Amino acid sequence: MRKKIVAGNWKMNNDLDQTIDLIKELKSAISKTEVDIMIAPSFPFLKVAFDLTENTNIEVISQNVNENNSGAFTGEVSVKMLKSIGLSTTLIGHSERRALYYENDDLLLKKINFALENEMNVIFCFGEELSDRKSGKYFEVIKNQLDNTIIKLKSNQLKNIVLAYEPVWAIGTGETATADQAQEMHSYIRSYISERFNLEVAQNISILYGGSVKPINASEIFSKADVDGGLIGGAALNSSDFLKIIEANT
Ligand code: 13P
Repeated sequence: MRKKIVAGNWKMNNDLDQTIDLIKELKSAISKTEVDIMIAPSFPFLKVAFDLTENTNIEVISQNVNENNSGAFTGEVSVKMLKSIGLSTTLIGHSERRALYYENDDLLLKKINFALENEMNVIFCFGEELSDRKSGKYFEVIKNQLDNTIIKLKSNQLKNIVLAYEPVWAIGTGETATADQAQEMHSYIRSYISERFNLEVAQNISILYGGSVKPINASEIFSKADVDGGLIGGAALNSSDFLKIIEANT
């Protein structure tokens, strides 16, 4: 059975005190739940966050990782570094990395392979732009993004991957894909994985939706058959909103 997940991508928000406060608020309110809960604070606070969440059901994950082992890569963070502080999962391919830091599919595939080879799980993000949605080419764009990355992996690697469909036009805009639009795309992605790998791989892979998920729309989106949870930006910075979104996936 595939996992239900709610992950908070904090992006470049929260200083040390805010990181500690938010984690404490979450810890005090989260009870036993079948949902896997993840948070992705900024690099400087990952160790503090990891320590604070030990023995809880909150997993601390990274927002990004480099595709090399070590060396002269100023400003970058390696898989080995993340693992040395206890992390075992990273986001790769967030649309902000693609758009603002020019990370393309070739690079993202390298990152995925390197992370998986070094026993780090991956949440792989992808999604179409507004112009692709408007021109009706969104399935084609998503197919392309998957063809260049996930489809090049071996089927046994997919058990350590979670997919996150994040339409760029819905990220941070307050404009969410409707639950039906999310389901339509998630079902397309799952069928595509099934065609290219097999039904079992497709049934077992979690596919998250990301893009302006809020307490008010979370239940409807998560109620869809192929939506296994969410990757949450803005609403993950507020403990009460994030907790409501987790609750909506139970
Ligand atoms: P928002 O929830 O703020 O739209 O961000 C979504 C996102 O980018 C999560 O990775």
